[in-house]
Amino acid sequence: SRTAAVIPAAGRGVRLGPGAPKALRTLNGTPMLIHAVRALAASRAVSLVVVVAPPDGAAEVKSLLDAHALPERTDFLVVPGGASRQESVRLGLDALPPGYDVVLVHDAARPLVPVDTVDAVIEAVRAGAKAVVPALPLADTVKEVEPARTPGEPEPVLATPERSRLRAVQTPQGFDRDTLLRAHETVTDNVTDDASMVEQLGEPVVVVPGHEEAFKVTRPLDLVLAEAVLARRRL
Ligand code: C5P
Repeated sequence: SRTAAVIPAAGRGVRLGPGAPKALRTLNGTPMLIHAVRALAASRAVSLVVVVAPPDGAAEVKSLLDAHALPERTDFLVVPGGASRQESVRLGLDALPPGYDVVLVHDAARPLVPVDTVDAVIEAVRAGAKAVVPALPLADTVKEVEPARTPGEPEPVLATPERSRLRAVQTPQGFDRDTLLRAHETVTDNVTDDASMVEQLGEPVVVVPGHEEAFKVTRPLDLVLAEAVLARRRL
């Protein structure tokens, strides 16, 4: 059983503030994307990493990968991405050579995911799950609202789902390759993760424990947190 990882890294990172595409911004001097690639390649099971670069940034991403030390046992491919995360993932899947029966999809924006989380996801797919999602319970209570038409207006609350039944999902999400390909061929709705496309096929998706350090670097405070985690690891 061979495992490949697709890393969508084509987002602009608008919520992080002005600057380079998010995946190319540095954490303690090293681009976030390089941290993310290393985090996935740290798993001995991962033998191919497909990086989905910003549409006009494939050459830059290729030279970044060449310039940083990465495990010898891992192969790397770089493809240009698209306008949405979903399209970027699909372009990455299109570049997958045959022979990989397990596929991980991992956000470049989660550069610090521990290798144990990566391995746990792969293990669950190898054990027979078609789609596996790492996730954590929520600290905050979540409310469904009627979104305001004007930002800043008070928003009516519609419902409060029972917190203990909710999970915040992370990546890498792991899939049986054929199931993921079918999901990307079939589902056209705008979605924010790959597992929800598999859900729409009616196939089962399971959750395994995620990790706090697999958080998504989205807003400026997340950069502070990520650099603090790296400093604690002395990287
Ligand atoms: O925007 P969001 O935080 O959901 O992005 C998650 C991941 O998807 C990021 O790693 C980002 O680079 C990637 N992405 C992409 N192509 C896009 C938009 C986002 O590869 N067009």
